[in-house]
Amino acid sequence: MRWAAARDLFERVARWADQHSPQTLFARALIIIVVPMLLLQALSAWWFYSQRGDNVTNRLAILLVRDLRVLIALRADFPDDEHRAWILRSSAQDLLLFVSFRKGIVRPFRQPEYFDIAAREVQGALEADLKRPFYINNDVGGGQMLIEIQLNDGDVMDVLVPHVRLTFGSSFAYVLAQLGSALVLFGLAIWFMRRELVPIEHLGVAADALGKGRDVPDFAFSGGTREVRNAATAFHTMRIRLRRSIQQRTEMLAGVSHDLRTPLTRMKLSLALLPESPETRELADDVIDMERMIEGYLAFARGEGDEDPAPVDLAEILEDVAAGARRDNANVEVGSQGDMNVELRALAIKRCLTNLVSNALRHGTRVRIHAVRGRTSVEITIDDDGPGIPPDRREDVFRAFFRLDESRNADTGGVGLGLTIARDVARSHGGDVALDTSPLGGLRVVVRIPV
Ligand SMILES: Nc1ncnc2c1ncn2[C@@H]1O[C@H](COP(=O)(O)OP(=O)(O)OP(=O)(O)O)[C@@H](O)[C@H]1O
Ligand SMILES: [Mg+2]
Repeated sequence: MRWAAARDLFERVARWADQHSPQTLFARALIIIVVPMLLLQALSAWWFYSQRGDNVTNRLAILLVRDLRVLIALRADFPDDEHRAWILRSSAQDLLLFVSFRKGIVRPFRQPEYFDIAAREVQGALEADLKRPFYINNDVGGGQMLIEIQLNDGDVMDVLVPHVRLTFGSSFAYVLAQLGSALVLFGLAIWFMRRELVPIEHLGVAADALGKGRDVPDFAFSGGTREVRNAATAFHTMRIRLRRSIQQRTEMLAGVSHDLRTPLTRMKLSLALLPESPETRELADDVIDMERMIEGYLAFARGEGDEDPAPVDLAEILEDVAAGARRDNANVEVGSQGDMNVELRALAIKRCLTNLVSNALRHGTRVRIHAVRGRTSVEITIDDDGPGIPPDRREDVFRAFFRLDESRNADTGGVGLGLTIARDVARSHGGDVALDTSPLGGLRVVVRIPV
C-alpha cells in the first residue's frame, strides 16, 4: 500500500518534470549533466570555505594571540624606553601588528551584529588563551581589526591587525579554477552530446520523409551508439518491407483487373450475338458496370505509380483542376492564401482533387476551392451546395465501391472509388481527407497535406 503511494508520487513528480523541462533531448541531456556538476561544485566550494576556512582562520587567530602574549611579556620584562620603542617598531615591521600603549580601562566588550569569522575566532582565542579583559572592533576600516587588551598595571594595549594576518588569501584563484574547469568540461559535454544526437536527428528526418511519401535520404548511421544504430537498421528494414508490400498490392490489383478484362470483352461479344431481350439488357448493364469497376481498379493501381515528389506550385494545380471542370460549364471558384510551393506528387494530387471536384459538381451546382498554408501543412477545402452527406455516413463513403446513391444510373455516379482514391493519395503524402458540412449548404471536403 505504502509502496503504491510512493510510486504514485514518484510518477507524478516525473510527469511534472517532464512537462516543465525543455523538449529537446539535447537540452535535457545537458541538464542531466550540468545540474549534478554544478551541485557538486557548490558542495565542494561550501565545504572548502566553511570547513577548511574555519579551520585555517582558527589557527591564524591562535597564532595572533600567541604573538600578543609574547609582546605583553616583552614589555613587562623590559621597562626601559629604548627597549619598549624597539618592541613597537619590530612588531610593526616583522609581525605586522601596529601596537600602541595608553593609560586607561578597555571598553566593555559586546559582540556587535556584524561579526566575521576572523573576529569570532580571535574572540575565542583571546578568551581561551589570554584571560584578560579585551575589546574587539572588526569594522574600523582600512582592512584592519582593532583589539584592545587590558594589561595588569592599568595600561591598555591597542593593536591594529591587518586582515591579511587573519584570512587565508587568494580565494579568487580557487573560484577561477573552478569556473574554468567547469567551462571546459561543459564545452566538452556539449560537443560530445551534439555528436551523439546527430544520428537521432537524421533518423527523425528520414522517418518524417517516409511518412510524407518522399524520398528517404540515405544517412550514414555508422557513428552513434548501438541503440541508435539498431533503430536505424530497423527503420531501413521497415522502409524496404513497406515499399515491397505497396508494390505487391499495386501489382496484384493491376494484374487482376487486367486479367478480368479479357473474359469481360468475350462476354460482351457473346451478348451482342444473342437476340435482344430484357434479360440480356440487364446482363449487358452488369457487364458495363463491371467494366467501369475494373477501369476504376486500374486507375487506382496506376495511382500508386512511380511518380516522385517534387516542389510544385499548388495554386497552379488548383487552377488546372478548376479549368478542367469549367470546360463542362461548371461554376468553380478558386482561391489560395499563403505560400503555395509544396513538395508533392503533382499527378496524384491532381487526381485526388479532380475526384473531389467532380463529386461536388455531380451533387451540387457551385464549387469553391480554397487552399490555406498553415504552419505544418496546407489545407485544401472543397465546398459545394449539394445535399451533403449525413455525419453518420461520412466514414462509409471512403470505403471502396461504396455509394450512397444505390441506383446505378450513369449521371449520378461512377463506381464508388473517387473518395477512396482521394484519401489514399492524401495519406500517401502523410496527410488525410476529412468531411464536414459546408457553409454553402452541401459537403465540405478538407484535404490536409503536411509540408
Ligand atoms: N460532394 C458530395 N455531395 C454529396 N454526396 C457525395 C459527395 N461526394 C461523394 N458523395 C457520396 O459519396 C459516395 C462515394 O463517393 P466516391 O467519389 O467515392 O464515389 P462515386 O463518386 O460514386 O464514384 P467515382 O468517384 O468512383 O466515379 C458517392 O456515391 C456519393 O453518394
Ligand atoms: Mg466520385
